[in-house]
Amino acid sequence: MEDTLTKTNTITQEIIAGMKNTPKQLPSKYFYDEKGSQLFDEITELEEYYPTRTERMILEYYLDEMAEKLGDNIELIEPGSGSSEKTRILLDKMDSIRCYVPIDISGDYLFKVADQLQKEYPNIDIEPLEADYTRPFELPNTHPNARRIVFFPGSTIGNFKLNTVQRFFSVIADIVGKQGGVLIGVDLKKDINILEAAYNDSKGITAAFNKNMLVHLNRKIDANFDPDLFEHKALWVEEKGCIEMRLYATKSHSVQINGQVFQIEEGEYLHTENSHKYTQEEFSGIVAPWFEVEQVWTDKNELFSVQYLVPRV
Ligand SMILES: C[S@@+](CC[C@H](N)C(=O)[O-])C[C@H]1O[C@@H](n2cnc3c(N)ncnc32)[C@H](O)[C@@H]1O
Repeated sequence: MEDTLTKTNTITQEIIAGMKNTPKQLPSKYFYDEKGSQLFDEITELEEYYPTRTERMILEYYLDEMAEKLGDNIELIEPGSGSSEKTRILLDKMDSIRCYVPIDISGDYLFKVADQLQKEYPNIDIEPLEADYTRPFELPNTHPNARRIVFFPGSTIGNFKLNTVQRFFSVIADIVGKQGGVLIGVDLKKDINILEAAYNDSKGITAAFNKNMLVHLNRKIDANFDPDLFEHKALWVEEKGCIEMRLYATKSHSVQINGQVFQIEEGEYLHTENSHKYTQEEFSGIVAPWFEVEQVWTDKNELFSVQYLVPRV
């Protein structure tokens, strides 16, 4: 585990590199301090935000089929576990799960959730791991004979750029080995109006979530972003096949990060997140070097999918 100073330096370098890009970029993983995690939980309850309730519905409806596919003696690993709310659907019903390893960058929230889960599921070993899953990390080796299943709901895969998606699946393939599998939520391409409404909610929760990243960064590193000088907007970018979350400057101003000054012009934006949406063909093609899509479960409107991937032998 890196010490706090090294961590702060790494983050500072990452943020400075992003601020030198055109357009300026801030990595979406910094949405999540405790407040960010809470705001995200609120987003998932919004009327316009279809992904969470649709994915939950698919998980609940097809749980028995999923349990059969996943098999026995499971170590369930979840990168970016957050509140682990969807995982509870599996933990409640699948007695084949021996151990659950929630992995999250937001340590305080992770350990709080893990403590609660251990109380509620005394027969399952809950082994939280505070880590950034985009960097190398070491898994506990307490159940060496269990089959490893990576659970990656929430279409978090949509937040990755193509080259990072590929790196991620090659790491996951190493983790699960030849006997394991992946249960993954993938958001599907659909009407642009439904997509844009989901990320520009009328209550302004997504806006608060987007701006909270600036507050989080001010606290985490030596930076002085002013969230009141930005406006949230999310829009569909057809050529990239993704929703981009942006923070537009409402007037020209400068931001200091570790002594370096960055000028931001009125109307310029900070790009904070990509949410790629896929057709089934596109997604199968992306995972093809490592995994075969063995089963796809969707809702009747085909808004969202949950897919079971098995390693190519
Ligand atoms: C949108 S929530 C998803 C939670 C849950 N998996 C679900 O689908 O409901 C994303 C979670 O991933 C975590 N996260 C984001 N980037 C991460 C990273 N690079 N490494 C570890 N955790 C990360 C965040 O802290 C947050 O708790």
